[in-house]
Amino acid sequence: MSVRAARYLHARLLATERVETAILDLAAYNFPIMEERLHKRDDPPQGLREFAEKVARADVLAIVSPEYNHGYPGVLKNALDYLGPELRRKPLAIATVSNGPWGGLRCLEQLRLVSFGFGAFPIPADLPFARVAETLEEDGTPKSPDVERRVEAFVREILWFAEAISSQKARDAASKSP
Ligand SMILES: Cc1cc2nc3c(=O)[nH]c(=O)nc-3n(C[C@H](O)[C@H](O)[C@H](O)COP(=O)(O)O)c2cc1C
Repeated sequence: MSVRAARYLHARLLATERVETAILDLAAYNFPIMEERLHKRDDPPQGLREFAEKVARADVLAIVSPEYNHGYPGVLKNALDYLGPELRRKPLAIATVSNGPWGGLRCLEQLRLVSFGFGAFPIPADLPFARVAETLEEDGTPKSPDVERRVEAFVREILWFAEAISSQKARDAASKSP
């Protein structure tokens, strides 16, 4: 079900001027259990280097995650644990999904705390998709204007942090500051 929300957010971002984006689908990557981080390995699992390069290049990483047992799914943490330097100072825009009334807000809170462990930081905006089966079509089209308004506001915040943090990183690169 979460892929519905990912498809919708992806479509909205693609329709925004100056934005380039892609969906990185963890179900398709199907990474094995993490035994060591990518930067400490010379035999990475298939697809991991390409995944990590895409994450590293992104000005913002938007995560769309279902809530499982009041937290984030193990497969998401497993994928993030492979990374390290790729996430440093990366703004994370976290959208959560559930079929219940809270839209995965407990998953959001936990993922925010974990993001500091990677040297990343969560943007303050949230985007909970509650009762996802009723509110989004399979292709991600929302069934109510309320969802559209909330996604619009979320995209505005993503752009603000993308611009602010990438400008600072460009200044750092120009002055060769760490
Ligand atoms: C293992 C598991 C645990 C779940 N735990 C919660 C939960 O704690 N809170 C909640 O609102 N929904 C929970 N759900 C319902 C999911 O949020 C809902 O099924 C959602 O559509 C799952 O997204 P997915 O289809 O992308 O996996 C759980 C579902 C599964 C499979």
